[in-house]
Amino acid sequence: MARKNVLYAQSGGVTPVINATACGVIEAAREHKEQFGKVYAGRDGIIGVLREELIDTSKERKADIAGLRHTPGGAFGSCRYKLRGMEENQREYERLIEVFKAHNIGVFLYNGGGDSSDTAYKVSQIGQKMGFPVQCIGVPKTIDNDLPITDNCPGFGSVAKYVAVSIMEASLDVESMASSSTKVFILEVMGRHAGWIAAAGGLAQQEQGDPPHVILFPEVTFDEAAFLAKVDRAVKKHGYCSVVVSEGVRDASGKFLADAGVRDAFGHAQLGGVAPVVAGLVKAKLGYKYHWAVSDYLQRSARHVASQTDVDQAYAMGAAAIKLAAEGKSGVMPIIERVSDQPYRWRAGEAQLSRMANKEKMMPKKFISKDGMGITAAARRYLAPLIQGEAYPPYGKNGLPNYVRMRKVLLDKKLPPFEV
Ligand code: F6P
Repeated sequence: MARKNVLYAQSGGVTPVINATACGVIEAAREHKEQFGKVYAGRDGIIGVLREELIDTSKERKADIAGLRHTPGGAFGSCRYKLRGMEENQREYERLIEVFKAHNIGVFLYNGGGDSSDTAYKVSQIGQKMGFPVQCIGVPKTIDNDLPITDNCPGFGSVAKYVAVSIMEASLDVESMASSSTKVFILEVMGRHAGWIAAAGGLAQQEQGDPPHVILFPEVTFDEAAFLAKVDRAVKKHGYCSVVVSEGVRDASGKFLADAGVRDAFGHAQLGGVAPVVAGLVKAKLGYKYHWAVSDYLQRSARHVASQTDVDQAYAMGAAAIKLAAEGKSGVMPIIERVSDQPYRWRAGEAQLSRMANKEKMMPKKFISKDGMGITAAARRYLAPLIQGEAYPPYGKNGLPNYVRMRKVLLDKKLPPFEV
């Protein structure tokens, strides 16, 4: 019997380090040559698998695979695509099995967040229900840091570092001009329903009174009066006010302050644009000149200011997924377990996919200050290690990072086309 091949697919929003995970998968699988055949990657994630568009990673240069460790984006393409229940859409599941069979795939690695754990879990049930055994293993990733059980999620540490560094730098800018010009700067960050990324902005505070002076979390109902009062106090005390606002902040009726009105395949509202809403309030009610910025995809792709801890963990999760596959496991996900805060130590553990799927881990109350607009010492203890270390990408003569691109050579198709 020929060795089974491994199929790897990226899913959902990408991160600055998701390719480091891909690198971990591919390099670790090569070390288990006796057990695994080739590593294939779905072009644009599960959509590519359904279309039988499988990239043969053995056709990539070894140096390019190594370069994935420092290249942002999703090198093989990612997607937001929800596989519905087996009853509703058996055809898609059968198609996956046909593709797996046609290309001798014995291991399916799905690299994503909560939604993707759900998909991976469903696919893990396919083998049993449809009589074709495939080991399905989730691989954690999400900048939102909202997966349960794992201590933190690959991708988050680098975005946290980007946000902390950015608010620190922008605050120095505002401070220097505040006496005659801008008095309030507002930075919007991602994170959907969870305030982990916003909280990371608080790491910029080294001493009492340091910016950001206000952090707005999705976990805390927006209180306009309290917010404006805090901004005003900061301006009066420090001459300026720096604010980090999470895209997922809601008003008392539960409505997002900024909901673009668009829904993705999972029914999530497309968020973004809360910074100008909040800035408008500051201008209308306090009259201060402001600037605002939406970090948006800049935060999600900022590999130039990545956290070394995050890069190491992202790579390790890819390698750990292969180890689990080598041990014959299925329906599981490697996770990060914190051993100690100081010195920070962690190890790879494992969790059942069924426990990871469709659950969002919010910031606990003990991480949010009493007034609801700052972080606590406990939050700092949790967050600080995750941004430790700098993992600069190598730069070329042109002054730009040497990011790699995959050749993406597809396998020959063996099956009839399939509409997705
Ligand atoms: O899930 C990660 C994330 O970056 C969220 O923080 C954000 O709300 C969302 O993805 C944006 O998704 P998209 O790029 O599909 O609009």
